[in-house]
Amino acid sequence: MMPQTLGIDFGTSNTAAGLMAGDRPYLIEVEPGKTTLPTSVFFDTQRKVTTYGSAANAALIDGREGRFMRALKSVLGTSLMREERQIAYERLTLIEAVARFLRTIKTRAEDATGLQLTHAVAGRPVQFHSRDPERNKRALVDLAEAYEIAGFSSVEFMFEPEAAALAAGVLEPGKLGLIVDIGGGTSDFSIFRRKAGETQIIASHGVRVGGTDFDKAISLDRVMPLLGRGGEIRNDIGEGTYTAPNAIFNDLASWEKIPFQYNPETRNMAGVFAKRGLDQRRFQRLYDVLDMELGHDLAFAVEAGKIAVNVPDAEDPMIDLGVLEKGLMVPVTPAHLAAELAGHAASIRTCAEETLARADLSADQITTVVFVGGSSLMHVVRDTMRDLFPQATLEDSEAFTAVASGLAIAAAQADARR
Ligand SMILES: Nc1ncnc2c1ncn2[C@@H]1O[C@H](COP(=O)(O)OP(=O)(O)OP(=O)(O)O)[C@@H](O)[C@H]1O
Ligand SMILES: [Mg+2]
Repeated sequence: MMPQTLGIDFGTSNTAAGLMAGDRPYLIEVEPGKTTLPTSVFFDTQRKVTTYGSAANAALIDGREGRFMRALKSVLGTSLMREERQIAYERLTLIEAVARFLRTIKTRAEDATGLQLTHAVAGRPVQFHSRDPERNKRALVDLAEAYEIAGFSSVEFMFEPEAAALAAGVLEPGKLGLIVDIGGGTSDFSIFRRKAGETQIIASHGVRVGGTDFDKAISLDRVMPLLGRGGEIRNDIGEGTYTAPNAIFNDLASWEKIPFQYNPETRNMAGVFAKRGLDQRRFQRLYDVLDMELGHDLAFAVEAGKIAVNVPDAEDPMIDLGVLEKGLMVPVTPAHLAAELAGHAASIRTCAEETLARADLSADQITTVVFVGGSSLMHVVRDTMRDLFPQATLEDSEAFTAVASGLAIAAAQADARR
């Protein structure tokens, strides 16, 4: 029987897709020579087209006129999803934007394989929104609808770490494995074992903390002060000053919120700060970022700085803000990172401990910890897990594609049931 089901790992930062070729997961070449693509969308005003992945990133970097979006997965479940809005050259909802991205994956997979892939087995984080159960439910409804609009006649969801457990390497009978999937938007855990060739999931759990939150923490601490965060502004009437409100800096530091800051009200507010601020130069930068729509350029610079400082013995890692001001560089050190990410590391640790509690297990019963996800490459994450599981062997899987490989296995199982 021909495969009809595509496994899709729609990630906050990167997306991958796969199906089974014989008895092995086969990852789709979603971009020339690549089995992952950035979860980015660009609405090009002049050409009146939507581009995806690396092409969308390139359009942003080239400064093309239009609207760039990344981390749309983080917006699922919020009221922003269903509002029809003007995006560059057309009116649409963000659900439609996600659907277009997914349709692109479907089309590329069909073109690459010559198959008709009308069903999907889709990854989902254990919790999209860990502090708000209602929002968490709505996020799944939104994502299911996007798959439907994308042209899939059915979609079955699977927890991302459970998919990764299917694809993880051998685990001896009786031993317990833990998937630690730290992505762009969420951290997800599954405890599993193998029995008679089958993978048994014992418990799964997740928290809304990921690499985009790391970027945000670094940006708020290292970059946003250069745009006036924490600065004082002279009162319009009378004496005295007030502190610049934090919201705009928070939003500019959040990947998924950047596209919504480019409006006349916010720009005018920054204009007032630039005129009346005690440090006008800093607030002028804020104005320029909003006026020239450089929010994502800053986010990419912060992300690159984060990855650079994470390389062992990196020499003078910097956040390069040259796009905003020639020669503007912000040093970042491992000590900065440790301080900025301590809270997030603690949340990730707590979530791992809660996963153990759900399985009624203690940390020393886990024999193997398997790292998945780009942010599992962060030292702070590894150190946290090594500390919690001193007895376990730490293993790496394919950080960016293990979930998609597992979804490919699950997709074949879905085909077999059909
Ligand atoms: N070498 C690296 N060192 C540290 N972090 C990295 C590295 N490479 C990528 N990252 C980070 O990993 C994150 C993306 O990881 P990944 O692609 O696994 O996420 P995702 O699957 O898209 O997100 P999610 O599963 O949470 O929806 C980004 O925040 C990115 O900055
Ligand atoms: Mg992921």
